[in-house]
Amino acid sequence: MDKKQANSKSCLQPVPKVIVSCRGKNGEDNALAVAYCCNCSYDPPMVMVGIVPSRHSYSMIKDSGCFVVNLVSKDYSEIFNYLGSHSGRDENKLAKMNVKTAEALKINAPILLDCPVNIECKVVDSIVTGSHEMFVGKVEYVHADAQLVNDKGNIDFSAVNFIS
Ligand SMILES: Cc1cc2nc3c(=O)[nH]c(=O)nc-3n(C[C@H](O)[C@H](O)[C@H](O)COP(=O)(O)O)c2cc1C
Repeated sequence: MDKKQANSKSCLQPVPKVIVSCRGKNGEDNALAVAYCCNCSYDPPMVMVGIVPSRHSYSMIKDSGCFVVNLVSKDYSEIFNYLGSHSGRDENKLAKMNVKTAEALKINAPILLDCPVNIECKVVDSIVTGSHEMFVGKVEYVHADAQLVNDKGNIDFSAVNFIS
């Protein structure tokens, strides 16, 4: 197989596409589309999200010290794209798109009810890597649609038609 040099930016693919939801100082809820997201510790369970400092959500996560990672299925593409192309600085995106939310159980942030899995995280560290600040979140609670969870608590990820 011949090889040739390719572009370096976002060269690790495929990656999950998630919606990160968070809450501001005045109790306002917001969410954005995120592709810089991964598991980063098995024990204790931790995930990491990369947020550009110019995002409205950035200061919310910085101030509140928490966020929710919502996994996204294909039937939620319209909302995912809207949250990824408009800013909470200009409007209440969640209200505009009629996004159904509920209170997280362990942190001060909303979970998105129509996403199949919602991962509540507390920020335990962060590192500015370049364009993004990577927030390391300790997983405090995982919600999943009941039909996805077996009797051992494991999620059947193969049953979700993830957005790609
Ligand atoms: C597919 C996709 C992936 C994205 N990934 C990220 C990301 O990993 N980190 C980030 O800060 N912004 C990412 N964005 C951009 C934000 O979602 C977008 O700028 C959003 O409008 C910010 O909203 P906010 O200002 O309300 O926080 C992505 C957008 C799309 C469409």
